[in-house]
Amino acid sequence: MEDKIKALQEEINQYTVQNEEELEAYRMRFISRKSVIGDLLASIKDVAPEKRKEAGIMLNQLKNASQAKFKELIGELEAQKASKQQYDVPDLTLPPIPDELGSIHPLTQVRNRIVEIFERIGFQVVDGPEIEDDHHNFTALNFPPDHPAREMQDTFFIEKNPDIVLRTHTSSVQVRMMEEGEPPFRAIMPGRVFRNEAISARAHCVFHQVEGLYVDKNVSFADLKQTLLHFAKELFGPETGIRLRPSYFPFTEPSAELDIWWGNESEADKRITKGTGWLEIGGCGMVDPYVLESCGIDPEEYTGFAFGMGIERIAMIKYQIKDLRLFTENDIRFLKQFSAFN
Ligand code: PHE
Repeated sequence: MEDKIKALQEEINQYTVQNEEELEAYRMRFISRKSVIGDLLASIKDVAPEKRKEAGIMLNQLKNASQAKFKELIGELEAQKASKQQYDVPDLTLPPIPDELGSIHPLTQVRNRIVEIFERIGFQVVDGPEIEDDHHNFTALNFPPDHPAREMQDTFFIEKNPDIVLRTHTSSVQVRMMEEGEPPFRAIMPGRVFRNEAISARAHCVFHQVEGLYVDKNVSFADLKQTLLHFAKELFGPETGIRLRPSYFPFTEPSAELDIWWGNESEADKRITKGTGWLEIGGCGMVDPYVLESCGIDPEEYTGFAFGMGIERIAMIKYQIKDLRLFTENDIRFLKQFSAFN
């Protein structure tokens, strides 16, 4: 018994711990109810009676020593942890791990640029609902009921109520603006529009337009042309030219298709412009007096121009993107290429 006690005392003296597990091992061996000391205490009855008292004293000393050591070990482990935490402070001399930066979507970049150009010449930005009624999307814009021009627009109707449509163009916002306010108006309306078209490289059922409206006394077709020319030069460069081709829209008279001069020298130019050098980006015209009148504006006193352009179309031209679907697929390899333009 005496030898065993001495050996255990020696073991306790030598004991060191590095972590919680080792501390627990110590506790199991020396402190817990099933510890070696516990076993010895239980076996004290087997010791010869004359030696029992002495053995009891030694065992008690061992027990106290083991408990004192346990406290000491706990203290040591805490101290170790505290000093380790100091090392956990980040090493500021290490080279940084670069953060992945997102990029602004090319359509948003083009939209922002368009807004910037028009804001500088006094146009404000106006917003309107994407779910519209027939009145704002069609009737007020001089689309008579059952007129074939409505079919040009491939409208999505809300099934339960054919009076409610997903707006097919942002001209509906022009109507709201004219109905609610007093001229002069000088605003652009960028936004999402919807048409029931099969998705392909050149068409999508959801796309973006920016429309513009300028109503005041003595607004002329020359104002329209100069505004669009200024815009094209700002966006595509000072060499850019524009061309207006006669066209038809129910809400403008006269109406025109807006083309920009792309160039016709390289093979790529010829391919992109189908050999003409011109690219169509939208429609425009003088607001039809009937539309002004139905919005409560006196067409004898005021005239105005309006235009509408496809933002995808402009982005495709600006960045030479060949497939419209890339804009909505969220392919990071595509989007990453626009971070340099942010
Ligand atoms: N709203 C027309 C469209 O979406 C474009 C346009 C706007 C044409 C304004 C003329 C004037 O097709």
